[in-house]
Amino acid sequence: MLDGIISGSRSPRSYAFLRVMLLSIVSSFGILTRSSSSPSYNIRFARREDIPGIRNCNLENLPENYTDEFYTRHLASWPALSMIAESKEDERLIGYALARVEASATSAKKVVTVGKNDVYLPPQMIGHVASIAVYESHRGQGVAKALMKALHSQLVNAHSVDQVSLHCRVSNVQAIRLYSSHFPYRCTNVVPSYYADGEHAWRMDCSNLSKLVASGGTSKSLQENIVSSISSTSSDKTSAADEQERKSIRERR
Ligand SMILES: CC(C)(COP(=O)(O)OP(=O)(O)OC[C@H]1O[C@@H](n2cnc3c(N)ncnc32)[C@H](O)[C@@H]1OP(=O)(O)O)[C@@H](O)C(=O)NCCC(=O)NCCS
Repeated sequence: MLDGIISGSRSPRSYAFLRVMLLSIVSSFGILTRSSSSPSYNIRFARREDIPGIRNCNLENLPENYTDEFYTRHLASWPALSMIAESKEDERLIGYALARVEASATSAKKVVTVGKNDVYLPPQMIGHVASIAVYESHRGQGVAKALMKALHSQLVNAHSVDQVSLHCRVSNVQAIRLYSSHFPYRCTNVVPSYYADGEHAWRMDCSNLSKLVASGGTSKSLQENIVSSISSTSSDKTSAADEQERKSIRERR
């Protein structure tokens, strides 16, 4: 149903409904507004009128640039995966993140040959972070982290996707740290000369997105969740073992 709506022929009413629905999903994960000590920005879905701001932010912060047509098509195709961060003070765009959903290149597996025809499983759909940038003046405030959390929530809740990938310059230490220390992205492959200037890219992958999102959205919260579930399981086991031990002591008496 979502695919039909996203890919084009939607009425203004259903579009408004979709936005409200998606906004409530995102806000239910606590990522629209950073409510803690420094709530200096909001994360929200990008609108057409944000395109000049996204284009300028991209031009200033990344060497991989796109046309306005690219952004228009991206926002129309992936409205739930087009996010911006804006300053609360003056509503200026301070960062953006764009993702899409695509078929995994490695997932088409042969199932059976019927007559002369090979029958394949449908390819697995995975998310791909296409571009993310934050103005230098607003870096180090968790903006990119919040944008990534928002994208992850939307990939899971609006697109039922459980895996996401991206490409990153091998020299981009900040970005690699962002993806691998706050989120469980792992470098899975080097893509030689991926960029126009010849630099290689890391392909980075993150799986079990739904678990990550359900746990609060970051590696830390996921880790805390695992640790607390292990400790509650082991304390359950301990108390059951204790009870058994107590029972056998009572019986021995
Ligand atoms: C990468 C980028 C998006 C990070 O944006 P940001 O809003 O400053 O990031 P955050 O404040 O959310 O920081 C999150 C994490 O990223 C990493 N990080 C961010 N800036 C860093 C820096 N200067 N050095 C090392 N790690 C850094 C850290 O792990 C940081 O977490 P920490 O503060 O707990 O250590 C930003 O530097 C940028 O726009 N760079 C240019 C565009 C770009 O490279 N995009 C990525 C393309 S793959």
